[in-house]
Amino acid sequence: MIIAGNWKMNMTRDAARSLVTALSDDRANAAGDSQMVVFPPAVLIDTVCAAASGLAASGLAVGGQDCHAMDSGAHTGDIAAPMLAEAGCQWVLVGHSERRADHGESSAMVADKARAAIRAGLKVMICVGETLDEREAGRANEVVGAQVLDSLPEGLTADQFAIAYEPVWAIGTGKVASPDDVDDMHNHIRAVLTGRDASYDRIDILYGGSVKPDNAEALLGLDNVGGALVGGASLKADDFIAIARAAG
Ligand code: 13P
Repeated sequence: MIIAGNWKMNMTRDAARSLVTALSDDRANAAGDSQMVVFPPAVLIDTVCAAASGLAASGLAVGGQDCHAMDSGAHTGDIAAPMLAEAGCQWVLVGHSERRADHGESSAMVADKARAAIRAGLKVMICVGETLDEREAGRANEVVGAQVLDSLPEGLTADQFAIAYEPVWAIGTGKVASPDDVDDMHNHIRAVLTGRDASYDRIDILYGGSVKPDNAEALLGLDNVGGALVGGASLKADDFIAIARAAG
């Protein structure tokens, strides 16, 4: 299980330090074998890695929220995957719906970013999810299946990536998908993945979208749910720790 916190464009340096200290204290005492990952804004990665250094054994990893498809070059404002690796990241998120919507990222672009991340030795968490219109039109499986296949580069090994299913209508809205809907979609994503490569039967498929301490257990208990990608509730130590505890 992976319990991941996407901080998005939030937090200050001081708040980041105290959150990571609380999370690492929890990891040092946690009984289960779930992995905790935090995705801070790029300028806080150094601070977070410094606060978490020496704690790798306790299961706290750090990731970037995005990377460019190129390894370096004239791309003002962008961040290259090797920079994230050098800063101490083990992971990078690609294809978050906010990147797809705000920056016009297609699945083909997401796949290029994922290739760059793999070249840099990072693991990629590839985000997919349908909009409310697509769900209401009965197209959720088709849309998400295509996003998975088109965003996932050919030839990745099962230890190089995870998938995060985040229905766009459940992000930051307090509207969590029902366990039945999550179960159906995660089973569908599993079938799409193993259709590509039989070894993908062990890929973690995370659910994201209004995950909170009070709904985490029901979601994380589903067969094909391999963790949670948490936004708002990952900014509060108590909430995020409670979600991680629900993972066992
Ligand atoms: P919320 O948990 O705030 O709904 O955000 C989910 C998300 O987008 C995580 O990447």
